[in-house]
Amino acid sequence: MKNIISEMFSFIKEEQTKDSYLRSLGIDGDDLHYMGSGEFGTAYTIGETGKVLKITSSKSEYDIAKSIVGEDIPSVAKIYHADIVNDDYYIIVELLDQDSEIENLFSQLMGALDDIGYSIADLPGTDLEDDLKITSDDELTKFAEEITDIYSTLIRMGVQAPDISAENLGYDNKGNLKIFDVDDIAMHR
Ligand SMILES: Nc1ncnc2c1ncn2[C@@H]1O[C@H](COP(=O)(O)OP(=O)(O)O)[C@@H](O)[C@H]1O
Ligand SMILES: [Mg+2]
Repeated sequence: MKNIISEMFSFIKEEQTKDSYLRSLGIDGDDLHYMGSGEFGTAYTIGETGKVLKITSSKSEYDIAKSIVGEDIPSVAKIYHADIVNDDYYIIVELLDQDSEIENLFSQLMGALDDIGYSIADLPGTDLEDDLKITSDDELTKFAEEITDIYSTLIRMGVQAPDISAENLGYDNKGNLKIFDVDDIAMHR
C-alpha cells in the first residue's frame, strides 16, 4: 500500500513538473496530442504549431539534438529546443508528414540495395543507374538521392551509426524528405 501511494505521488509530481515546465515555454499541456512511442521516447503534436514534443530517455538523441538547435540543416527536421527536465530529455522538433508512399519507396530501395549486397552506408558511392539498376523510375531515383543526402548529412554531423528507417522519415511543408528521429545506434550498443 505504501509503495502504491508513493508511486502515485511521484507520478503526480512528474506530471506537475512536466506541466509547469511546458507552461514556462508557453505550451499548454492540453494542447499536447499523443502521436506514438518507440523504444526510448514518446511524441506529441503541440496544438497547431507544426511542432512535436518528444520526451525521451536517450542521451545520445538529446546530445545530437542539442548540438543542432535552431540550425537549418537540409535533410534533418529542425530542432527548436532541447533540455533536460528531471531525468528526461525534452526535444521540440519540426512536425513532418509521414506520407504512406515513404514505406513503399523505402522498401523498394532496400530491396535494390540488398540484391547487390549493399546497405544504406554504401549509397554515397553507388551509381543508381549502373549499380542499383534504378533507371526510369523518377520517384524512386529522387527518393534514393534524398536518402543518400540524409545518410551523408548524419555522418558529417558525427553520427556513427544513424538509424534511418521508414518510420523515422517524413516530408516538410516544401516537400523535402527529412529524418525526424535522429539517434546514434552505436551509442546504445
Ligand atoms: N517530428 C515528427 N514528425 C512526424 N511524426 C513524428 C515526429 N516525431 C515523432 N513522430 C511520430 O511518433 C512516433 C514515435 O516518435 P519517434 O521520435 O520515432 O520515437 P522513438 O525514438 O521512440 O522511435 C514516430 O514513429 C512517428 O509516427
Ligand atoms: Mg522512431
